[in-house]
Amino acid sequence: MSTTITVIPGDGIGPDIIDATLKILDKAGCNFTYEYADAGLSALEKTGELLPQATLDAIARNPATLKGPLTTPVGEGFTSINVSLRKHFNLYANLRPVKSFKGTQARYEDIDIITIRENTEGMYSGLGQVVSDDGQEAQAVSQITRQGAERIVRFAYELARREGRKKVTAVHKANILKSTSGLFLKVAREIAAEYPDIQSEEMIVDAVCMKLVMNPEQFDVIVTTNLFGDILSDLCAGLVGGLGLAPGANIGDQSAIFEAVHGSAPDIAGKNLANPTSVILGAIQMLEYLGMQDHAKRILAAVTDVIASGDRTTRDLGGTGGTTEFTQAIIERL
Ligand code: NAI
Ligand code: MG
Repeated sequence: MSTTITVIPGDGIGPDIIDATLKILDKAGCNFTYEYADAGLSALEKTGELLPQATLDAIARNPATLKGPLTTPVGEGFTSINVSLRKHFNLYANLRPVKSFKGTQARYEDIDIITIRENTEGMYSGLGQVVSDDGQEAQAVSQITRQGAERIVRFAYELARREGRKKVTAVHKANILKSTSGLFLKVAREIAAEYPDIQSEEMIVDAVCMKLVMNPEQFDVIVTTNLFGDILSDLCAGLVGGLGLAPGANIGDQSAIFEAVHGSAPDIAGKNLANPTSVILGAIQMLEYLGMQDHAKRILAAVTDVIASGDRTTRDLGGTGGTTEFTQAIIERL
């Protein structure tokens, strides 16, 4: 039986790298049926809305969504579509794995870190945003709930067990942010005690930044609140060679959206220059989520091989290929 997934090609380089990814999924024998939906600038042009109801329905209907990057028009009062999607579907867990690939010019070789970022609370709760009438003072509310902290920390430990990972590092700033980060840390300690088989560690966020740069191999699973997770996961992407190799999954209890961490790259759109790897890695996360571990492994092996061999990769990876040559090379390996 064929599983239906929702596909949002998105804006800019989105349609090209999504198309490349679907070709790879098909070649690997995933046998998906695709239900296409629009969001972002392309949806605005077609329907007058950035996030049409039909798209929300399609995401809700199917077990997983693969999404290209979306352009949110700047300065026209639009809220970020990605933030809207996270809120609408309560996608509370943002999983951002980074892994070293041979054949890139990254600084480190043995990195395999996954940042699990709480995706709905913290400094991004959207609560209490005030700017004084004279524009001289601004405030926003950071919100941590026991329920929100518990479910994300538990998610991290369950993932560690499932993936055979050894250690979970809870990242906080409880020494200064005593109420919010304090509650997060308290809950993290309680949950850690339930998982004696996994090594638990806690670390203050600024120290984590330093250690990630000096000795990133010591990290395995990082679990943290929204703002810290946003920043640390980009730092981690930089350790392995940047945006072209960084996928992200947004997971809730009912829905899941898989994507690249990067944006729609309007500067290279339509030029056959985009590196499709981040979206392909997002699709691999999707396969793992859907229980298709064998397909995930085969595609990852093919991508790893092509990047290691070097010549047909895209320019950001040091190669001379375009999106289509790179994709074709992966398809040939499969
Ligand atoms: P960007 O990530 O689109 O581009 C930053 C730089 O990285 C550019 O030089 C671009 O050419 C390069 N780049 C990005 N992806 C690449 C790839 N796959 N292969 C090769 N080079 C790549 O960030 P920027 O320019 O700040 O944002 C452009 C648009 O994307 C904005 O409208 C922004 O709102 C949107 N955006 C959407 C995201 C999403 O839907 N998840 C995430 C981030 C930004
Ligand atoms: Mg970010």
